[in-house]
This record gives sequence, structure tokens and C-alpha cells, in this order.
Amino acid sequence: MYNKVEFLYLSQDDCVKAGGLDMSGTVKATERSFFLHGKGDFILPPKPVIRWGGEDSEETIGRIMSMPAWLGGLEYKEELEARGLLGPVNTSGLKFIPSKPHNPEKYNLPRANAVEIILDPETLMPQAIMDGTLVSAMRTGAASGVAAKYLAKSDAKVLGVVGSSVIGQTQLLGVTAALPSIERAKVFSPNPDHVKAFVEKMKDKVDVELAGAADYRELISEADVICTATMAKSSYVNPEWWKEGVLHIETSFWDTPPEALDFMDKIYADDWKQVKHHGADVSWRAVRDGFITEERITGDLGKVVIGELAGRTSDKEKIFFNPIGMGLHDLSEAFRVFESAKAQGIGRVLPLWENYAL
Ligand SMILES: NC(=O)c1ccc[n+]([C@@H]2O[C@H](COP(=O)([O-])OP(=O)(O)OC[C@H]3O[C@@H](n4cnc5c(N)ncnc54)[C@H](O)[C@@H]3O)[C@@H](O)[C@H]2O)c1
Repeated sequence: MYNKVEFLYLSQDDCVKAGGLDMSGTVKATERSFFLHGKGDFILPPKPVIRWGGEDSEETIGRIMSMPAWLGGLEYKEELEARGLLGPVNTSGLKFIPSKPHNPEKYNLPRANAVEIILDPETLMPQAIMDGTLVSAMRTGAASGVAAKYLAKSDAKVLGVVGSSVIGQTQLLGVTAALPSIERAKVFSPNPDHVKAFVEKMKDKVDVELAGAADYRELISEADVICTATMAKSSYVNPEWWKEGVLHIETSFWDTPPEALDFMDKIYADDWKQVKHHGADVSWRAVRDGFITEERITGDLGKVVIGELAGRTSDKEKIFFNPIGMGLHDLSEAFRVFESAKAQGIGRVLPLWENYAL
């Protein structure tokens, strides 16, 4: 008879109690995964995606993504600690993340929900099964924060966020947490009530002046750092509006027209191979459709984080960052929350089995 197996179950409320809303911690966990990605100390198979149509059906019908990952760090323990990046992960996990665009309006549920599994590295039995919805949203904001830390111009003061929902909120939290030079932030969504609600909800959560923008043009032409995180089905970014020295972080898919990428001096991804494999991001469509050559893709942000690839070299450069979203970030952030929960006795220990049946 095999031994019993138990795992720690963490609901979203447990994750919050364990520090899941502490963006400064999420930024550290996410920079850790960029660092280890840069060092090559990871395994990240291309994400399988279930979709019921072409790549644009993700914004209408939805999709289901599975994001398995292994993240190391043992070899870089001292460097991680010296950089304040928490320490090694040395385990594997999976984020399972369905997205249903009609959920918010039709069911008052989030578009995306996720479950994260973290394995015991020794036995590969689950050691945690937890809400991944919060982890995923937080690490997406933190990834933009890390990009801003490494790629924004030195005196970036104005942040512009397009999209006022879950990911818009974490873009604001992530970039302001990682880039202390930001003094003002603006948000725009075509629905003025959404903009108002966003400002009301978020104004006390950040240490910057927060206001709504009148339109896309106002937001884009004033911002030093732009985050686009929407469910837009067609593009609205006019490249003529971009300021000298801008950093544009496109977390969603259809906001910027692919031909606009030719206006950029440098284009970074989180993992260009994954961007190509997924086949929907604007940087990939710009290459596929011949607006820019693949040589115009400067490289992956992790290489900038470890100092192997140049980031911004002048305050005049226009830079585009296009993250596909790596399961490595989910694992790193979920592991941070899990370790904190374990240390504080948060969550419930549940059996996978008491008595193995065979
Ligand atoms: N790359 C990554 O790592 C990553 C991770 C998570 C989410 N995302 C992407 O971020 C996007 C936003 O996610 P969410 O959970 O906030 O979605 P959501 O459905 O909760 O909200 C989307 C918001 O976009 C707004 N919107 C729709 N069309 C718009 C337009 N033309 N201009 C401005 N706003 C518009 C909607 O009103 C809504 O408020 C999605 O595309 C999602 O796939 C990317």
C-alpha cells in the first residue's frame, strides 16, 4: 500500500492573506523568473491552447491555455539573494487558465480564471493546489513593472494605461511599484463609467496622481510608459502619437497595428520563441506579414536583466515590449505565495488520497 498524499490548498482569500496582493513581492518574484530565464535555468514547453477558431477568436469565443514550467535557481542562489530576488525555486508547476470574454458582463465573473499546481521536486506529487487567478493577474502587472525598470527612459514620469479591468489595474500597480520616477498615471477605456470606477478604486492604492484621459490620443501622446491591456478586437494606436523615448508594453493582442512596429527602435519579448509559437501577438504578426524583419526583434528581456543584452541606450529610443506571458512567472509568484502561506499556517491541508486504491 502506498503512503497517503496531502497537499496545501490555497483559496484566493488564503493567497491574499499570504501576501498575494503585495505587488513589491510580486515584482521580486517576477524579476526572479526573468533572471532565471536569462540564465537559461528553466524549462518552458510551448503552451498548448484550445481555441474554437482562428487567433482572433480568443477575444470573442475564448481559449484555454495550459502553462507547464520548471524553474531552477540553485546554481544562482547567491546572485538571486544579492539582487533581492528571494532565492531559488527548484520545482515545477502548471497554470491552467481558461478565458471566457463574456464572463464579466453575462455572469459577473472574471474573463480569466486559473488554477496553479506546484509539485514537490523530490516525488513530483502535488505540494500545493491553489487559486492561480490572482497570481496570474499580479504577475502580469509585475512583468510590465520589470520591463519598465529595465527599458523605460531614465526620467519617465507619466504612465498611460489603456484598459480598466483586471489587467489594467495590475499594470498600474506593477509599473508604479517598479518605477519610482512615475509621478502621474492616466487611464483610458471607451466606457467613461469604467474610467471613473477605475480611478475611484485605484487612486488610494498608488502613490501617484491618477486621472482619466479623454481619449486614446491624449493618453498615448502624453505617456512615457504605455501599457495596453484590453480586449480590443481592432487596433487604435496611431504610431504618430508616440513620444520620443516612449516604452510601449503591449500585454494584449490587437491594440497596436503591426505596421506601427516599424516606428520602434527596439522590440523586446519575454520569450520570442513562445511569441512565435502562439501566433497572435502583434510583434509576431508584424514579422509574419512582412512589416518588419525578424532581425528587428532585439531579444528577450531576461537577457537584459542578466546584463547579456543591451536594453535602452538612449532616452530618445522608442521601445516596444511584447510579453506573451510565461508560465515561469506564475510558478515563481505562486511559489512565493505558497512559501509564505506555509510559514504562516495559512490554507488547508487536503488529501489527494488517504488509502491508495490499487
Ligand atoms: N501577456 C500576458 O501575460 C497576459 C496575461 C493576462 C492577460 N493578458 C491579456 O490582457 C488583456 C486584458 O485582460 P483582462 O483580464 O483585464 O480582460 P477583461 O475582459 O477583464 O477586460 C478587458 C477590458 O478591455 C476593455 N476594452 C475592450 N475593447 C477596448 C478598446 N478598444 N479600448 C480600450 N479598452 C477596451 C473592456 O471594456 C474591458 O474593460 C487580455 O487581452 C488578456 O489576454 C495578457
